[in-house]
Amino acid sequence: MTCTKCETFCTSRTQIVEPDLPEFGRPCRVLVVGEAPGADEDVQGKGFVGRAGRTLHALLEEHGLHRGVDYGCANVVRCRPPENRRPTKGETANCLPYLAGVISTVKPKAVLAVGDTAAQAFMGKPGLMENIGRLHHANQCPRRFLEQGSVLDMKWPFGTRLFIMPHTSPLAWNRNAPDGRKWSEIGREQISRMVQTL
Ligand code: URA
Repeated sequence: MTCTKCETFCTSRTQIVEPDLPEFGRPCRVLVVGEAPGADEDVQGKGFVGRAGRTLHALLEEHGLHRGVDYGCANVVRCRPPENRRPTKGETANCLPYLAGVISTVKPKAVLAVGDTAAQAFMGKPGLMENIGRLHHANQCPRRFLEQGSVLDMKWPFGTRLFIMPHTSPLAWNRNAPDGRKWSEIGREQISRMVQTL
């Protein structure tokens, strides 16, 4: 399926990277949602296939979750932005109805937002650690935060929980979070929290 809604993406992308779901009709227990395809994803036409993706899959496998079996992968926008910049508000708004449609059809038990851009697309505000805290206090229910009438509000399935983890690029470089902990520690904690609810 082609799309020409974002003029810039029509020239920055090689191809549209569609979400991939578990094979053979298996239920999608978790849908991982990243920011946007990067260089490797743009060439291969599949999300999370580069270095950051490999870090992510290793972490999920530590917790017994396997790509194509237990979880699928999507991005907030389906096209690689130029120079790997963050997608703009307009680009996100163009692509979000598509992602919302996938979530409402697949009805995963959990959506795992990877990084601040994905978290912000769901929660409406920036601030990774703040959004992690807000969701935790709301029993991982994003419906409390979704703006009334937004595509996500209309399509978010009852019972699907939202978890947020740091983006896997700082994880891969073993960087520290503002609270002094390693981003990887926060990522592992969020994944364990999610696995307990599956
Ligand atoms: N690969 C993706 O597909 N998305 C990201 O956010 C990062 C890497």
